[in-house]
Amino acid sequence: MAHTILIKNIKGLVGIDDGNILKKSGAEMSQLTIIENAFLLLEDGKIKDFGSMNSSQFSVNSEPSTDNKTIDATGKFVLPSFVDSHTHLVFAASREEEFVMRIKGKSYEEIAAAGGGILNSAKKLQAMSEDELFESALLRLNEMMSFGTGAVEIKSGYGLTVKDELKMLRVIKRLKKVSPIIIKATFLGAHAIPPEYKQNRNGYIDLIIDEMLPQIAEEKLADYCDVFCDQGFFSVDETDKILNAAAKFGLKAKIHGNELGQTGGVQVAVKNNALSVDHLEFAGDEEIDCLKNSETMPVALPNCSFFLGLPYAPARKMIDAGLPVCLATDYNPGSSPNPRMSFIVSLACTQMKLTPEEAINATTINGAFALELSKTHGSIAKGKVANVFITKQIPSLAYIPYSFGVDLVEQVIIGGKLL
Ligand code: NIG
Ligand code: FE
Repeated sequence: MAHTILIKNIKGLVGIDDGNILKKSGAEMSQLTIIENAFLLLEDGKIKDFGSMNSSQFSVNSEPSTDNKTIDATGKFVLPSFVDSHTHLVFAASREEEFVMRIKGKSYEEIAAAGGGILNSAKKLQAMSEDELFESALLRLNEMMSFGTGAVEIKSGYGLTVKDELKMLRVIKRLKKVSPIIIKATFLGAHAIPPEYKQNRNGYIDLIIDEMLPQIAEEKLADYCDVFCDQGFFSVDETDKILNAAAKFGLKAKIHGNELGQTGGVQVAVKNNALSVDHLEFAGDEEIDCLKNSETMPVALPNCSFFLGLPYAPARKMIDAGLPVCLATDYNPGSSPNPRMSFIVSLACTQMKLTPEEAINATTINGAFALELSKTHGSIAKGKVANVFITKQIPSLAYIPYSFGVDLVEQVIIGGKLL
């Protein structure tokens, strides 16, 4: 007997398409199809049907079956789950002492150069067991799901030794096994140069290429490869070399670029056909032009701008130039300790001047594109995975970003099951 959930009397069923849209660019980003007074039928983990409560379809589709559940969503909106395409959610400890240092005037780069930042997280992660890391990451993942996230990318990059990068990636592999949501794993060995290689950068890059990548490929521990290409971290040439090596193991690129300066991150990402280039706080006209001739998804991470006091990525300008824009949390203990995608939607509206519709497309279908999941996630389409959330009773869709910081997610359905 089929297992069904029927959600009826939905005030607004948001983000409908025919299932063939992979991403939205430019003016398409403001198109967000909504059915008012709608029903949504989920069956065996998939979206089976939807439409207006007034249509004849509704009576056909609402035939009772034995293993079913009906939810009355009067006054509430239903959205496709968020796709968070950029996180570092496996980490050992929070870093609020650095937060206080920044309040007192130190910059993120100064703290990093003095051995804090990523290196601080690496030292703590190296001392922690795989089991402890797994348990804490699982709690974070569950919390994110309760905030409406239904697919997520997780990076390594706090290991910085062969053993500890593999440990992080094995934690992610275990999370993939137990989690009801889909997870993509990204190898980020090139997150920072570890102190023991400070005088021997090439030695660390060789370690990534000759030791880490082959073992990761052997154990199938990663889907993608990332490099922090920025001033004080990895140069364009170093990034190029690492991405080339990763490509030989079948790992596509997703890179950190233009967070701290205009140092060629976008260009090297596009040159390597990266799936995405993320951060972009320091992207200018040249970067926008470069992205126009590519399939690389620009991903803005507004939590970093909010939390570190950086400029916001020029997402408005990118959309006006016809580009797609994706938004993600970058959840990590240094630059973004908040995993709530609805806050990202608020920041996109208030700080980057995206409309609520654009911000929702950026956090759903375009997030799915950045993880190669558009065929199954990121919108309400027949046959897609039944990952949706139901809001509290709210007056309008724009009320979601308007009421920033407030949790309006009331019920979460993942794979057709209520969380
Ligand atoms: O995306 N910028 C590089 N990596 C992370 C932050 C890492 C950290 O500070 O721990 C980011 O912001
Ligand atoms: Fe990041």
